[in-house]
Amino acid sequence: ADALKIGIAGLGTVGASLVRIIKQKSNELAVTCGRPIAITAVSARNRAKDRGIDLTGITWYERPEEMAEKADIDVFVELIGGAEGIANIAVRTALARGLHVVTANKALLAYHGVELATIAEEKGSLLNFEAAVAGGIPVIKALRESLTGNTISRIYGIMNGTCNYILTKMEKEGLSFADCLKEAQRLGYAEADPAFDIEGNDTAHKLSILTTLAFGNRIAADDIYLEGITNISIEDIRAAADLGYRIKLLGVAQRTDTGIEQRVHPTMVPVDSVIAQVDGVTNAVAIESDILGELLMVGPGAGGSATASSVLGDIADIAKSQPGAQRVPVLGHPAKSLETYRKAQ
Ligand code: NDP
Ligand code: HSE
Repeated sequence: ADALKIGIAGLGTVGASLVRIIKQKSNELAVTCGRPIAITAVSARNRAKDRGIDLTGITWYERPEEMAEKADIDVFVELIGGAEGIANIAVRTALARGLHVVTANKALLAYHGVELATIAEEKGSLLNFEAAVAGGIPVIKALRESLTGNTISRIYGIMNGTCNYILTKMEKEGLSFADCLKEAQRLGYAEADPAFDIEGNDTAHKLSILTTLAFGNRIAADDIYLEGITNISIEDIRAAADLGYRIKLLGVAQRTDTGIEQRVHPTMVPVDSVIAQVDGVTNAVAIESDILGELLMVGPGAGGSATASSVLGDIADIAKSQPGAQRVPVLGHPAKSLETYRKAQ
């Protein structure tokens, strides 16, 4: 089958990781996706920056919206960030042209997700966003696919890796809030403006996306009760520990008699609960529903590899959905050819 041609806008923590992984695994991906994945276009601000990735033979666009409009691509991958501005314009341009879009941008989806999904539907394109909530945890797939038919009563969890990393480091290593935040930024976990992490907005963006998928209501990120972790001190964490609790920043959405209640705030959770054991950049999302009961998903919530893993899964879904793709066998991949590719790498 023909290669699936992708253009990547944004080559920061996530974008550069994605390029690296696609290049490293190109042979294997051609088998598992039923067609090669070819990066034919990229865009970022600074062309001269050394990103530790080989971009030879890939067309560079100065402006993401120009790439969305003109590049020879099937899929526009948006890894820039921000609800308004360039990411928003470029995604709309790509959708208007009938391209599939993959994005990790929860701020964009929290404010414009329903509208963008409607445009994609009208155009017959796919809008995939697994990486937008809880990094590498496949929670969007769970809600959009696996839990179909379930009536969901509650979703809650740790949805911001930066905050959980800070709270864990403060408790376990006694480091200051400011030092822990700096380290989270160095590791590529934090947003370009880390206020979105520590003030809770990022969790609210993610929660509003989950709420829309789970309960079918319109996204309303600004209606969510919001309290971040900026006022949490080491003394608070120690006092909670003395009482048998850990402090976690939780996002909670639940069905009530008066509607869907949504809130984000630091919460004392009993030390012996599963959620209290979720440390560092790890996220956890619990979903309670009538048929399945309680589902708890725990995994890497931020960082280049975790996020690129979800973005790649979204790209692979598009590759497999296109006519001409060689469908993978029901019971798995053709083991022999996969083994051959792995050995050759
Ligand atoms: P970075 O800040 O590391 O990278 C952003 C990229 O966008 C950079 O390559 C930058 O270019 C480019 N960019 C910014 N503004 C423009 C512009 N005006 N024109 C062209 N390019 C531009 O962000 P991340 O990789 O961390 O995050 C990307 C997206 O993924 C965001 O939406 C974020 O919320 C989301 N996300 C991030 C996760 C993480 O763990 N980091 C996890 C889940 C989602 P240049 O490099 O030249 O400056
Ligand atoms: N800044 C976000 C976090 C990235 O720390 O969770 C993942 O969405």
